[in-house]
Amino acid sequence: MAKERAVVVGAGGISGAWFPPLIAEKVEVAGVVDLNVKTAKARIKEYGIDAIASSDLKATLKKTKPDFVVDLTVPQAHCTVTCTALAAGYHVIGEKPMANSMAEARRMVRAAAKAKKLYMVSQSRRWEPKHDAIQRTVAKGELGRMTTANCDFFLGAHFGGFRDVMPSPLILDMSIHHFDLVRYMTGTDPVAVYAKEFNPKGSWYKNEVAASCIFEMTKGVIFTYRGSWCAEGCATSWHGDWRLIGDKGTLIYERDGDPNGQVVKGKVSGFGANLKPAKIANSAMKITGMHGALREMLTFLRTRKKPQCQCHDNIKSLAMVFAAIESSNKGRRVPVRAL
Ligand SMILES: NC(=O)c1ccc[n+]([C@@H]2O[C@H](COP(=O)([O-])OP(=O)(O)OC[C@H]3O[C@@H](n4cnc5c(N)ncnc54)[C@H](O)[C@@H]3O)[C@@H](O)[C@H]2O)c1
Repeated sequence: MAKERAVVVGAGGISGAWFPPLIAEKVEVAGVVDLNVKTAKARIKEYGIDAIASSDLKATLKKTKPDFVVDLTVPQAHCTVTCTALAAGYHVIGEKPMANSMAEARRMVRAAAKAKKLYMVSQSRRWEPKHDAIQRTVAKGELGRMTTANCDFFLGAHFGGFRDVMPSPLILDMSIHHFDLVRYMTGTDPVAVYAKEFNPKGSWYKNEVAASCIFEMTKGVIFTYRGSWCAEGCATSWHGDWRLIGDKGTLIYERDGDPNGQVVKGKVSGFGANLKPAKIANSAMKITGMHGALREMLTFLRTRKKPQCQCHDNIKSLAMVFAAIESSNKGRRVPVRAL
């Protein structure tokens, strides 16, 4: 199999999670681009790769002619970097969140369509065997028809740095993971939301770092999300603690434990139904996180099989983020509009 060639843009913190899978997949990293060339050079040295270090993306693309570009820059730069790569004729895989605004995200979708190139967003939490098992369990109808999804996410997170002062730190920086997961697990898309963001008493954040949101999803599913990065004690999982309910039973996934559930056994007569353990589907997923996303991009390059999280789909998860903020600002229910 011929080696694919890539250019990595953004050599900051998260690139440390991308170079090992790129190397494991024998992708030839031909260029590393960062506004700060020293940062690019340091990564090249750290991983012992034979790549150009540069702060000029266009020039690096011209020189290296890669098969794809990996956009690991900060959210404010995703639109410029990804649109530059697409316009130059290259496929892109990029970090979440897709963009810093819906206007930028829509521009990126149009840029991919115009260039006839693929742009996928890496929502790393999709590539997790327990999440794959939940998705399969729901899809095979074990719980019956889905009615309800609840996710709780509570942590006392003392990051320091930009999150302490940015607007809507929870919804903008974290909830995109949970919003994308509910779409993945239940096979539904967002329709409308009522949300209330708030900053709890004693908060060490400048802005609203907690939220309660009620999303109306397609297929009549209601998704309730409660989250805070300013909640000391009894932390949930970073993936969130989940309860999924269908008209035949319930699945619970909490604190990273094995998903489990109960479903109705036989006919209901009297107050409570007879119940039996839900059959949780097996997952054969071996490659997880960013590596899973990268593998789907490589599969696309080799076979043209379309990956998950292409931009015109992932924009629906991003739309949940911006609609929740809009709803909270307006104090009313708002539609979730992606494109
Ligand atoms: N999937 C996850 O769980 C996860 C975890 C952490 C971060 N992330 C995402 O990864 C992305 C990067 O986060 P990070 O923590 O590595 O940030 P970072 O600030 O550590 O690194 C970003 C790098 O991009 C460079 N950069 C910025 N604008 C650029 C531009 N226009 N051209 C070239 N380089 C540019 C910066 O100089 C910096 O070196 C963000 O979108 C973040 O949300 C995802």
